[in-house]
Amino acid sequence: MKGMSIKEEILKKLDGAKGKPISGEELAEQFHVSRNAVWKAVKTLREEGYDIQATTNRGYILPRQSDILTAEKVCSLLSFDCNVVLKKSVDSTNDEAKVFAAQGAPEWTAVIAEEQRKGRGRNQRSFFSPSGTGLYMSVLFRPTFSSSESLFVTTSAAVAVCEAIEKVSGKKAQIKWVNDVFLGEKKVCGILTEASFSVENNGMEYVIAGIGVNVKSGSFPEELQEIATSVFGDDCPADARALLAAEILERLKYYYDNIPARTFYREYVSRCFIIGKEVMVFSGNMTGKALVEGVDKNCFLKVRFEDGRKALLSSGEVSVRLL
Ligand code: BTN
Repeated sequence: MKGMSIKEEILKKLDGAKGKPISGEELAEQFHVSRNAVWKAVKTLREEGYDIQATTNRGYILPRQSDILTAEKVCSLLSFDCNVVLKKSVDSTNDEAKVFAAQGAPEWTAVIAEEQRKGRGRNQRSFFSPSGTGLYMSVLFRPTFSSSESLFVTTSAAVAVCEAIEKVSGKKAQIKWVNDVFLGEKKVCGILTEASFSVENNGMEYVIAGIGVNVKSGSFPEELQEIATSVFGDDCPADARALLAAEILERLKYYYDNIPARTFYREYVSRCFIIGKEVMVFSGNMTGKALVEGVDKNCFLKVRFEDGRKALLSSGEVSVRLL
């Protein structure tokens, strides 16, 4: 995280005093700038969407329920060093993280955005990413394990998200193999893991885990209304996105560091709600109805088709739909 600008300093100060006004004079004095510079910074913050109100003679105030997402806030909640970068609006945080990766950024660089213009999911689907209501975060890893294990970054992230959602909301989150997190029967989070492979050492140069969580109730487009949900309704606590981001990172750190021991596996399987259910499998010559029998140690899906054939499905090749 780089040094903060005056604008960021002012936002931090108002955020820390949420619900109480701070005068322009006090801000100017504290940050050694003119009152006009304070006014300009507040004006820019307002244009960026922050609900800073000006009260006559008392100064500037952020309402108590404001949800201010800053890199600093996320970092302050973490027990380990993480290079958190916050962006206002990007096409996709995965793309931003790739740029950081190409520039040599360290593992545990996390790019978070207020909104994504071209958020994407698996199978060329788009991921609805409006401003202020979701958490859109991509985490950069430089794994030393083999490329066949890169799927475990996705499965570790899925478990981390479930646990984080439970911690901040008390709601039970479950996994739809392989990369979706559900609350009840609706999707609340999707994970898109992308990797760059190096031909020279036959290994992975980097892996990026892109995590998109619907945090607050907003208005989903019609096609999502029946299938998507958010962590919170009208009961959303202040700073929900920062709290959730930090919880996810904290748990992801634990599960990622323990990928060699597959620590995530038990949790993953116990939360995988399609086990024991009938699904429709879409995969070339294996398309058809099947019963899900389990998830094996490599996180392949064990299914039995109606004609009795059994198969181990790899997430890269198939998608499944609950019946
Ligand atoms: C899916 O639903 O298939 C996965 C959705 C992944 C969305 C996240 S949001 C952060 C990151 N940036 C993207 O463009 N996608 C991922």
